Amino acid sequence: MKELSLHILDVVQNSIAAGSKLIKINIIEDLDADKFTIEITDDGCGMDKDYADKIKDPFTTGRKSRRVGLGIPLLYAAGKRCEGDLEITSEKGKGTKVTVWMKRSHIDRAPLGDMAETIKTLIVCNPDVDFNYKHILNKKEFNFETKEIKRILGDVPINEMDVLSWIEGYIKEGLKSLMEV
Ligand SMILES: Nc1ncnc2c1ncn2[C@@H]1O[C@H](COP(=O)(O)OP(=O)(O)O)[C@@H](O)[C@H]1O
Ligand SMILES: [Mg+2]
Repeated sequence: MKELSLHILDVVQNSIAAGSKLIKINIIEDLDADKFTIEITDDGCGMDKDYADKIKDPFTTGRKSRRVGLGIPLLYAAGKRCEGDLEITSEKGKGTKVTVWMKRSHIDRAPLGDMAETIKTLIVCNPDVDFNYKHILNKKEFNFETKEIKRILGDVPINEMDVLSWIEGYIKEGLKSLMEV
């Protein structure tokens, strides 16, 4: 995949399919350690340890219609390619955490892509699910939480056009000032 944000979109779909109500996306860029980390944590149905160990292998999938599940294996490959790895911790009935990390400056590391667009897309398709997006760059931090936005909005739906464009702009601006040195 060309951009990491597309991997994120894909892996978050697993959390949604698992019935999650709150999905946390953390992106941690550590310039000193030259490390780029993505953590996706959900409160969905979770899975057995045996199964969680197996899903990095593309021939494991819960789907009946298709034998090959590729969301996790593709992200795993993206990590491996860049001197990193992928780890899954999960507990049945509690939730799942997928962590992938890579060498930030690695020539093969895909660019992050458009996270404002990604978060907007997730909200449009899943207005009842809550998303936390935290982006850390060295010691600076950007935080976005749909719960907070919904509280402010009151009766106004979060997936209304005006609200969505505001959210997109807010995230874009937040990331821009995070990247400024
Ligand atoms: N967050 C999650 N919660 C529960 N089960 C998960 C989660 N992520 C992945 N899985 C399980 O692992 C399988 C493989 O996921 P994935 O590689 O994305 O392929 P696919 O989604 O196409 O099946 C899923 O079908 C599902 O059974
Ligand atoms: Mg999937």
